[in-house]
Order: sequence, then structure tokens, then C-alpha cells
Amino acid sequence: MYSRIIGTGSYLPEKVLTNYDLEKIVDTTHDWIFTRSGIAERHVAAEQELTSDLALQASLRAMEMAGVKPEDIDLVIVATTTPDQIFPSTACILQDKLGIRTGGAAFDMQAVCGGFVFALNTADLYIRAGQARTALVVGAEALTRLLDWNDRSTCVLFGDGAGAVILQASETPGILGAKLHSDGRHRGMLKADARIGHGKIEGSPFMYMDGQAVFKFAVKVLAEVVDELLADLKLGYADIDWLVPHQANIRIIEATAKKLGLSMDKVVLTVAQHGNTSAGSIPLALDSAVRSGKIKPGQKVLLEAVGGGFVWGAVLLSW
Ligand code: ACO
Repeated sequence: MYSRIIGTGSYLPEKVLTNYDLEKIVDTTHDWIFTRSGIAERHVAAEQELTSDLALQASLRAMEMAGVKPEDIDLVIVATTTPDQIFPSTACILQDKLGIRTGGAAFDMQAVCGGFVFALNTADLYIRAGQARTALVVGAEALTRLLDWNDRSTCVLFGDGAGAVILQASETPGILGAKLHSDGRHRGMLKADARIGHGKIEGSPFMYMDGQAVFKFAVKVLAEVVDELLADLKLGYADIDWLVPHQANIRIIEATAKKLGLSMDKVVLTVAQHGNTSAGSIPLALDSAVRSGKIKPGQKVLLEAVGGGFVWGAVLLSW
């Protein structure tokens, strides 16, 4: 038994914030942001729009493409770093908003920007173990809520959005393999310290990032994990038809593609329009490439991501 993606969907909040808009908020320029990151604009959730609302719209679109109804879904995993609230999980909130009453499991996956590949791997294992048949796997973030709009080194890089896939049991291979890693020794490089205790927030609720350290670490581990995965599957770089990377930064993506010997026309890019939407970025990019007809049946698609923790991983699938 295997699992296959049978539908994708995504959603971006209506409000667009361009680099030129940011010039009016913080001491920066479009050229600085675009040259360093490849980002031109990002979407920002409205005040009352929560992560589960973004996830809901993306999920409905994925369900429509897949032709599945709420009663077909027996597993919901939401990868997010920006849950609606401490608990219940955003996955339980989404399950309710979608009207899923099947009694299957719903839970969140917290692996920051790596969350979607962790969630997809988990859903694949559930399905192959026979514990679920039709899974809704979502990456959704309202990450701009963690930004200090006075900190130009971080606030220009991130955006809000959600992507979703329906993963279903299949006799034909879809997910071909996955490789995941975490190393908590690097937890100080990218973090939001805030803790809630005794009725108050302790520590900074804003994101902190050592940008240069993240950059070097990301380029190194992304190429390594792809090598590991391909070696496991006895495949080579030439077998990859499409790379759908986490959309953090065009320079990280280009450096990784170069190490993997992939030309940039095999790389799906949305970073210019979306910015870094953390766990949302891969399913958003995947949906755009599927709906535009870039990714075709039978092609091999490589997903890879790295995020705070540090965590990193790759999934190879056959479309
Ligand atoms: N606008 C203008 N100037 C800025 C800005 C800004 N938005 N931000 C920083 N600067 C200034 C700095 O203050 C510094 O000025 P100084 O030389 O007078 O001190 C100068 O620009 C250079 O700063 P650096 O931090 O050295 O800039 P760098 O070239 O390293 O680029 C960046 C910074 C874009 C963050 C880079 O390190 C990077 O891409 N890192 C990866 C970060 C990333 O992608 N994180 C994603 C989250 S993790 C994930 O998803 C995996």
C-alpha cells in the first residue's frame, strides 16, 4: 500500500504588502530586499483572520480538486508555528470548521518552516500502516504576527498563507520516500522566545534570526539531505523533474539547486510574490505548479525544507 496526493489547494490573504510599502514603515529599500532575498511582496492576514481560516480555504480547494467530502477524511495534520491559540490544536479547529465528523485523528505538527515535509511524511506513514485512508495535510501560517515591524532584518522576509494536499491510499506509488532530521543544538539561531506563565507572557514574542548563520546552515543541510534520500531510493539528480523548495530566500534556493546540479527552470518559485510563509510555503508553491500545468503525471517532484529547531528534510514523490 502506498499514498498519493490527489488534490492540492492554497490560499493567500487579500492584503498585499510590497517592498515599496515597507519602505514607508521601516528603514529599507525594495532593492535591498529584492537583491538579498528575491522577495518583492508578501500577503498579510487581516486582524480577525486566523491560521485556521487560511487553512480552511486552502483545504476546501484541495478537497474540491480531489473530489473528496468531509466524511472521507480520517486524518487531519496542520503544520504551523502560529496556531490560533495554545490549545485546542489548529487541526481540531479546522476539522470542526470543515464539518469532519468521522472520528479520525487531527493534530498539529510543529517543525516551523520544515513543518509541511514532516506532516506529509507522517500522513504517508499513517496511510501505509493502514491507520488512515484519506488525509488532509496542511501547512498554514499567520507568521507576520510574530514580526517586529521595527526590526528591518526580519520583518521584510516573511508573509502569511496556507497550502493543503489530500493524500490518499493507493496501489500506485505516490510518496516515494522521505528523510527528516532535527538538531536542537542550533535552536538559538532562529526562535521566538515567548512563554506563557501565570497569566503573562515572558520573553520576546517576536522572531529572532541570525540571518547569516541560517543561510550557511540551510545551504549545507538541504543538499546533504537530498543526497541521503536519493541514495536510499537509488536515484540520481537527473531523475528529479521538479524541485519545490521551501521558499525562504532565492539565494538559498539557487545555491541548493546549484549543488544538486539542477537548472533553475526545474525549480518552482513563488518567493517573489509570497515571501517566506514558513510551513505554508511548499504546499503553496506545489499548488501553483500543479494548477499552472507545470507538474505533469508521472513526473518526480522533490520537496525540501529547513527551519528553526533546527529541522530539515526532503520528500520525493511521483505525481
Ligand atoms: N534593509 C536595509 N538594510 C538592512 C536590512 C533591510 N531590510 N536588514 C539589514 N540591513 C543592513 C544591516 O543592518 C547591515 O548594515 P551594516 O552593514 O551597516 O551593519 C547590512 O544590511 C548587512 O546586513 P547582513 O545581515 O550582513 O545582510 P546579509 O547580506 O547577510 O543579508 C539576510 C541578510 C537577507 C537575512 C541573509 O542573511 C539571509 O538571507 N539569511 C537567510 C535568512 C532566511 O532565509 N531565513 C529564513 C527563515 S529560516 C528558514 O525559513 C529556513
